[in-house]
Amino acid sequence: MEQTFIMIKPDGVQRGLVGEIISRFEKKGFSLKGLKLISVERPFAEKHYEDLSAKPFFNGLVDYIISGPVVAMVWEGKNVVTTGRKIIGATNPAQSEPGTIRGDYAIDIGRNVIHGSDAVESARKEIALWFPEGPVAWQSSVHKWIYE
Ligand code: GTP
Ligand code: MG
Repeated sequence: MEQTFIMIKPDGVQRGLVGEIISRFEKKGFSLKGLKLISVERPFAEKHYEDLSAKPFFNGLVDYIISGPVVAMVWEGKNVVTTGRKIIGATNPAQSEPGTIRGDYAIDIGRNVIHGSDAVESARKEIALWFPEGPVAWQSSVHKWIYE
């Protein structure tokens, strides 16, 4: 089944939003397949955001991601990449709808609490980067109560 990479950024960890964020994905019905608290160094953060390296905000973005520990996760489920992005909300919290994570918990684009892969292919690359050991293989016993 489809998987995505979700990261709670340093501001989300510092502000005590880890439980709330995990809870939203769990309650939706997605399955947690990888989870770790990790501090990353500059080259790793640059690799994660390499597609944005030409942007004027790139150095500030990397400073932000390495400013404290992050929670790296793999979530699995039908359409989890697209639905995960909907749960997260628009990049700029000024445009994120209330009810989304960014809409409820963030104000500035440079402190927007959470990352989610933007496509199945980028999810595959990001999971390989952050979880070289691979996700954990297990099946939820409530699968038949979530999927028809
Ligand atoms: P991620 O899930 O973090 O990848 O966000 P996104 O996919 O919604 O947006 P994108 O990949 O385009 O940008 C990555 C991150 O860079 C954003 O989440 C912001 O934290 C930051 N960012 C994007 N645009 C801007 C900007 O114009 N100014 C600043 N300061 N930061 C930005
Ligand atoms: Mg992105």
